[in-house]
Amino acid sequence: MRGIVSREARILVLPIERDDLEARVRWLNDPEVQETLSFDAPVSLSRTVRWFERAILDPNRRDFTIWQREPRRRIGMAGLLGIDYRSRKAEVYVTIGEKECWGQGFATEAYEWIETYAFEELGLERLFLYTLAENSGTQRIMEKLQWKREGCLRRDAWSHGETKDRIVYGLLRSEWLRRNGWEALAQRR
Ligand SMILES: CC(C)(COP(=O)(O)OP(=O)(O)OC[C@H]1O[C@@H](n2cnc3c(N)ncnc32)[C@H](O)[C@@H]1OP(=O)(O)O)[C@@H](O)C(=O)NCCC(=O)NCCS
Repeated sequence: MRGIVSREARILVLPIERDDLEARVRWLNDPEVQETLSFDAPVSLSRTVRWFERAILDPNRRDFTIWQREPRRRIGMAGLLGIDYRSRKAEVYVTIGEKECWGQGFATEAYEWIETYAFEELGLERLFLYTLAENSGTQRIMEKLQWKREGCLRRDAWSHGETKDRIVYGLLRSEWLRRNGWEALAQRR
């Protein structure tokens, strides 16, 4: 892919394959990973296989596995959901499943990769992301990458026995171009 792939190129982001599912299930069933997510756990491998068979054929989503380059191993997952080719927008998700990798900038790099993929390869105009209000790590990344905090959705998501607030962040293609120093391109529409 052209453009910025990953600033320090410590990661590879590859389309999800059948062989990635065991790791995905292990991460999603880890209580510490789950703590800042909102979905129905536990997740089974057989259900995940069925999900995978539908997901890879769905034109409105793209799912990836994040690999660390050295040592070469799977460390997380990322993707675009609800890709709307008419409005040119999609929701982003990034999770680093290998906990010893937290705090080393891997998710930030994965967001940078997915921004480039969405804006350059898919020609999208807007990315957005929902995160629980208590998810300080993701909010710190959004701040670092200059996504706009667009609002707080009160009691929006069920997580660990209660409805919790979620924050919505957004990034426009023009903002992404400016952030990368391509002012002239940002003004062209
Ligand atoms: C949230 C998550 C994706 C962050 O991944 P990561 O690889 O650790 O992220 P990065 O290292 O790129 O950046 C995290 C930043 O948040 C900061 N941070 C992490 N936890 C924090 C906390 N509890 N409070 C404040 N800041 C925090 C880190 O210090 C870092 O900022 P810095 O670069 O200024 O030091 C990862 O912890 C994760 O997958 N958690 C479980 C599932 C999840 O929450 N997924 C996202 C759902 S929206």
